[in-house]
Amino acid sequence: MNMNRRQFLHTTTATAAGTVFGAVPLRGEDGFGHYKTALIGCGWWGMNILGEAMRYSPPPPGGKNCKVVALCDVDQRHLEAAQEKVLKLTGEPPRTYRDHRELLDREKPEIVIVGTPDHWHALQTIDAVQAGAHVYVEKPISHTIGEGRAMVNAARKHGRVVQVGFHRRVSPHNVSAMKFLREGRAGKIGAVKAFVIYDGVRGPEKPTRNADVPKGLDWDRWCGPAPLRPYNRLIHPRGFRQFLDYANGTLGDWGVHWMDQILWWTEELWPRRVSSTGGRPVQGPAVNLPDYQTTDAPEVQVATFEFESFTATWEHRLFGGNPHERGENVGCYFYGTEGVLHLGWQSGWTFYPRDKSQPVLSEPAQLHEPDQQNIRELWADFMAAIRHRTLPVCDIETAHRSTVMSLLGMISLKTGRSVQWDGATERIVGDPFAHGLLRREYRPGYRYPEIL
Ligand SMILES: NC(=O)c1ccc[n+]([C@@H]2O[C@H](COP(=O)([O-])OP(=O)(O)OC[C@H]3O[C@@H](n4cnc5c(N)ncnc54)[C@H](O)[C@@H]3O)[C@@H](O)[C@H]2O)c1
Repeated sequence: MNMNRRQFLHTTTATAAGTVFGAVPLRGEDGFGHYKTALIGCGWWGMNILGEAMRYSPPPPGGKNCKVVALCDVDQRHLEAAQEKVLKLTGEPPRTYRDHRELLDREKPEIVIVGTPDHWHALQTIDAVQAGAHVYVEKPISHTIGEGRAMVNAARKHGRVVQVGFHRRVSPHNVSAMKFLREGRAGKIGAVKAFVIYDGVRGPEKPTRNADVPKGLDWDRWCGPAPLRPYNRLIHPRGFRQFLDYANGTLGDWGVHWMDQILWWTEELWPRRVSSTGGRPVQGPAVNLPDYQTTDAPEVQVATFEFESFTATWEHRLFGGNPHERGENVGCYFYGTEGVLHLGWQSGWTFYPRDKSQPVLSEPAQLHEPDQQNIRELWADFMAAIRHRTLPVCDIETAHRSTVMSLLGMISLKTGRSVQWDGATERIVGDPFAHGLLRREYRPGYRYPEIL
């Protein structure tokens, strides 16, 4: 009976996609020989994506490439560096903006890349699809679950392709590992463990002094809909991951990649119960004072996800890396009746058969520089989806469900109790307080996205 419900949901998703993209004329299909492309958030990862967008070369006949017409960032230093890079590579300087709404209004881009911190993804993605652009947005898609649902509905309403940066969905070794598992070569899988273990934290976190806002950074707008904390170099650039006002710690940042792999592998769409525990036993209590701050995300966290046919766990630890544990410090172990498959990142995958007379099997990773990723393949898939009016491989709804797993783990951690999830209605059952955490208050001047 449950399998039927799942099949029904898969079917309705596919049907909806066909009609949604069929009904609305897609801009950029006729006319100029390129897609007007804009990047919002010109930091580390945004520039990695833009690099692949610029090098993309469409297959004939009639394909289009991407022309970078505009860049947006609230940090002038990032904006100028990005403009210079594009100029060097293409000979044409893109126009620059500090407010994404102005960019959308003036440039009317056909493609928008959203590479800002997590707390901005929802507003910018929704504004972009509403303005008629197809969007490539980074993971996790949202900071709260309600934002994610609003993003999915907006994408569908406006008939735009929204690809999410889960590049592990197209990494060759991840693709072949999924095939291996689906062919039953590891036997019946009853448990999956996803994890990342670092060895960076050595003792209590020393608070870092808050600083004057660097010249050229609009800090108020960087914080945007989220609480306005004093500026601290721990937060920007890149450090926001470990601040719960702007992100969801290691489970929201790294964990969501592996939550996505679990949902890709299983036929189930969501866990029915999630529980989590964790804290900061080594770093110590978080500090947020007028003069000093520390990070505030948990440095150790364990989460359990109960599915109908298996149990998944997440574990991260930012201290106590254990060289005695076999294999890479990130990934998923799929535990089967015929053996265990470790699906990793730089190490590819390895299968350890239960029958010791059988050889250990493995496949290396095929990743691109910089930073060992497969954005190139994901961008090509995005382009194909726009061209053929199909769902991309990391469609926003699929990515929403993966993000939900991480965010439910965080809700359980915050409430200190397990949560029962009804994925069909996207409700936490029997716990109004926990259910209330599906959304949050925005700062005055910003409106929490409406679920259309
Ligand atoms: N898919 C992956 O493997 C992967 C890897 C790294 C990062 N990411 C994701 O990419 C996103 C960005 O991370 P990062 O490490 O590049 O961070 P970053 O700090 O290097 O870059 C973020 C940029 O966004 C800018 N910004 C902030 N608010 C803005 C606004 N309102 N308008 C325009 N620009 C704004 C910042 O000034 C900064 O330049 C995160 O969501 C992260 O999870 C994904």
